[in-house]
Amino acid sequence: MKTIDELLAEGVEGKRVFVRADLNVPLADGKITDDGRIRAVLPTVKALADGGAKVIVASHLGRPKGAPDPAFSLLPAAERLAELLGKPVAFAQDTVGPAAHEAVDGLEPGQVAVIENLRFNAGETSKDDTERGEFADQLAALADVYVGDGFGAVHRKHASVYDLPARLPHYAGYLIATEVGVLKRLTDEVKRPYVVALGGAKVSDKLAVIDQLLGRADRLLIGGGMAYTFLKAQGHEVGISLLQEDQIPAVKEYIKRAEDNGVELVLPVDVLVSPDFPDLKTKAPANPTTVAADAIPADQEGLDIGPETRKLYASKLADAGTVFWNGPMGVFEHPDYAEGTKAVAQALLDSPAFTVVGGGDSAAAVRLLGFDENAFGHISTGGGASLEYLEGKTLPGLAALED
Ligand code: 3PG
Repeated sequence: MKTIDELLAEGVEGKRVFVRADLNVPLADGKITDDGRIRAVLPTVKALADGGAKVIVASHLGRPKGAPDPAFSLLPAAERLAELLGKPVAFAQDTVGPAAHEAVDGLEPGQVAVIENLRFNAGETSKDDTERGEFADQLAALADVYVGDGFGAVHRKHASVYDLPARLPHYAGYLIATEVGVLKRLTDEVKRPYVVALGGAKVSDKLAVIDQLLGRADRLLIGGGMAYTFLKAQGHEVGISLLQEDQIPAVKEYIKRAEDNGVELVLPVDVLVSPDFPDLKTKAPANPTTVAADAIPADQEGLDIGPETRKLYASKLADAGTVFWNGPMGVFEHPDYAEGTKAVAQALLDSPAFTVVGGGDSAAAVRLLGFDENAFGHISTGGGASLEYLEGKTLPGLAALED
């Protein structure tokens, strides 16, 4: 994989460089609530601009349906990028149309433009190779060189991620190089004990990675909404908690395999419950109660791990050599259900281990809860991407940069 340093050494003065970033940031009422992904691509954009390139930054945002939709405009991200760069950034209101060409043609060396959300064009995400290829051809006409730096999207076989690099000289940006370097440390020579904390809502999203980790990790801590499917698989009632009934057979098999492989599988021993899901807008007090994990009342929902589980998980993280954490432990967006996620984040900070926080949600949680992101070994910008990497899958956006 050639890196941006090689490109800079070859010289970029006056070249149109297409940077495929992942500016898929969370928005609330049109405002960015966490700009981590924009900051993560700054070193690449700055280095190219400083080298005299005409920099074209492109990304998806959300999941629009292949046509322009103002709710998913990249304009707020372009404005934030301009603030962070400390210089103007041109914004094109289309992807490959006249506005994009005008914006790119108007760039002087060292200047930056952002084109509109790539998913406003159906070709970006199409399953049809020809349709994707046609969009990639149109994107290729905008640029001389391709730099892949949207780590969060490398698991997507999309036109700008997979097809476009085949059409231009291509290089990996600083973010992708860093992310891959870190993930290699989790797959190649991992320092033990290797402890993995997994949370988030859906167990189905995590099955493949659990499958892999049962052959690699020493300890697996389960929290978040997915914990209730594990508790149910162990024979406990979970009230009205999130449950993926259809995943119970798979989870039972994992529980058995963990035992067979000597992997310590740790589940919550107590949880915070309430009959109602909290109001995340008003953040009105939710007044949860704490119950044992095997005594969840029939009319109540588990929304965070409880105090005993927080202590237990902290102790299981304390002697780790390596930690990978993906997914919040509870509904951390509400202060009454943030303690579980905070406790895991704090345990990572207290641990001398190499700590990797993987994924949009957990990364945003760490920042929103006020932790110093620099104190963690690495905070990945890719949730799905880092999980698929750990699953051992070939990621289209990385494969495309290899050859
Ligand atoms: C993410 O948020 O994980 C990436 O930006 C990919 O987004 P997607 O899941 O909509 O493809």
